[in-house]
Amino acid sequence: MRIGVLTSGGDCPGLNAVIRSVVHRAVVDHRDEVIGFHDGWKGLLECDYRKLDLDAVSGILARGGTILGSSRVRPEQLRDGVERAKGHVADLGLEAIIPIGGEGTLKAARLLSDSGLPIVGVPKTIDNDISSTDVTFGFDTAVMVATEALDRLKTTAESHQRVLIVEVMGRHTGWIALHSGMAAGAHAIVVPERPFDIGELAQRVGERFEAGKKFAIVVVSEGAKPRAGSMEFASGGKDIYGHERFAGVANQLAVELEERLGKEARPVILGHVQRGGTPTAYDRVLATRFGWHAVEAVHNGDFGMMTALRGTDIQLVPLAEAVDHLKTVPAERYTEAECVL
Ligand code: F6P
Repeated sequence: MRIGVLTSGGDCPGLNAVIRSVVHRAVVDHRDEVIGFHDGWKGLLECDYRKLDLDAVSGILARGGTILGSSRVRPEQLRDGVERAKGHVADLGLEAIIPIGGEGTLKAARLLSDSGLPIVGVPKTIDNDISSTDVTFGFDTAVMVATEALDRLKTTAESHQRVLIVEVMGRHTGWIALHSGMAAGAHAIVVPERPFDIGELAQRVGERFEAGKKFAIVVVSEGAKPRAGSMEFASGGKDIYGHERFAGVANQLAVELEERLGKEARPVILGHVQRGGTPTAYDRVLATRFGWHAVEAVHNGDFGMMTALRGTDIQLVPLAEAVDHLKTVPAERYTEAECVL
């Protein structure tokens, strides 16, 4: 068979492990030919690709980022995008495409699949917000990076008797904030699923100082917003694609908490460091398993599906189901975390 693979959307530790696994399973075990499109869907739309053989994927298992490059370009953004993609798949004699990506990528995958292309998706995102899979690779690495940063920040916060507001990634969901906050023993966790009340947050942090503690760490997801009427909150406007830009919640919280508590407060934005560098062992294993199962799905003709972790098994779920809604932090998970803050 001739299989095309691409990585699209924000990069994520573990992408190279999937590419490597796809090539090994397809080329060695099935005698397939694999090509890799450059920069995500853009490569398919522009017919920009290279052959992926064993040499091409040698030594990439532990490497962060993606050897194929990525972009946020999607076929549906172009008027003739779907038709162009279909034309290139036919011209290249591709019998399957394995797109590796998050919510946006998988939505595009579903669209192309519905238009008749043979697609098996692989979910990725550090945000861990793809429903239908228990976990996405990249999440474990991001949580580890954030936890290590929080551990380090505690010592400087304590030395200066400060409140540090640490902003982690999480556009729509608070998984990274929840897990890193729990792992590092943060004193408050603020997630997009629960708009915060600035008065309650200030009270929680204030009570900690009243109890004689010398510092406080607040972990906040970049997409978190205050409850309506709770505080003035500047929006971040729109980016060049018209998407909502982040409002700088850590900066705004630092100003507000400093004024309300009379304590020095500083914002710390972890940003893309959470997406960079080598994947954890857990992410490498999950990514490798996804790659293996994606090739099996291709050979079984299970198109329009996505690999998913269910318990300890890798299963296939319909792409339609996977992009139906995001996996948000359930109230009970937040309650568990609150009890140990
Ligand atoms: O989707 C993963 C993610 O890391 C989000 O948490 C974050 O909001 C976004 O990507 C940032 O994307 P970009 O690299 O385009 O700034």
